Amino acid sequence: MATSFKKPKICFFDSGIGGLTLLYECVRKLPCAEYVYFADNYNVPYGSLSEDKLLNKADGVFRQISLLKPSAAVIACNTVTARCAGYLRERYDFPILGIQPAIKPAAAAGSCAVLATPATADSWALKELAVRCGMGRTEVLPCPELALYIENNIYNIDKEKINALLPETRADSIVLGCTHYSFVKKHIEKYYSRPVFDGNLGTAEHLRTFLGNFDHHPENTGKIWFCGGDEKKNSHIFNNIETILK
Ligand code: DGL
Repeated sequence: MATSFKKPKICFFDSGIGGLTLLYECVRKLPCAEYVYFADNYNVPYGSLSEDKLLNKADGVFRQISLLKPSAAVIACNTVTARCAGYLRERYDFPILGIQPAIKPAAAAGSCAVLATPATADSWALKELAVRCGMGRTEVLPCPELALYIENNIYNIDKEKINALLPETRADSIVLGCTHYSFVKKHIEKYYSRPVFDGNLGTAEHLRTFLGNFDHHPENTGKIWFCGGDEKKNSHIFNNIETILK
């Protein structure tokens, strides 16, 4: 008799392409789930928006997500987690996970510098996380133009241009506080010659643990849909992500 198998349905949301790096990590950990990736590419950068605008945009997307009755939603955008996660969790009755900068593992090994969008850098959520997990040796450095540069030039990244957008720091390690930055993680590692952390693996592990009560059948692969923004671009980048991340 065939066993019944219910696939978890997980909705992702980022302003643009950044969350695809987290989606990639989650699909590797949970290949059997069904994923819907929501994005708003034409309005990047979210990191320059006021909190009111961010709440408005995030709520608009979450209203669509709620219609799908997901097993969970993942905020694949540090800016939206920092500014909107509390509000969204109060309004919606499905579980909402949110990526955050990986300060804890970085600060455990020494001082660290968190690179983030202006809206994340200036948020209470990040300040609280830095106090709670940063062991008094965490600095936060805003990178006002980096996410937009990556969004617009993903197929043709100019490393000199990236270098010009990276702030100086003497910290022992670097924490990527924006999912867009993960596309240039290898380059950032080379540039600073120091360890670089992002929140992708931790969030993917959290999602897997969270969905632990679902059956996982690795041979039973799920599907991915792209919804909103530049769907063609997001799908193309996702389908070529291993080459792009090299
Ligand atoms: N990828 C988003 C983040 O993780 C923000 C990029 C943007 O500014 O739109 O913060």
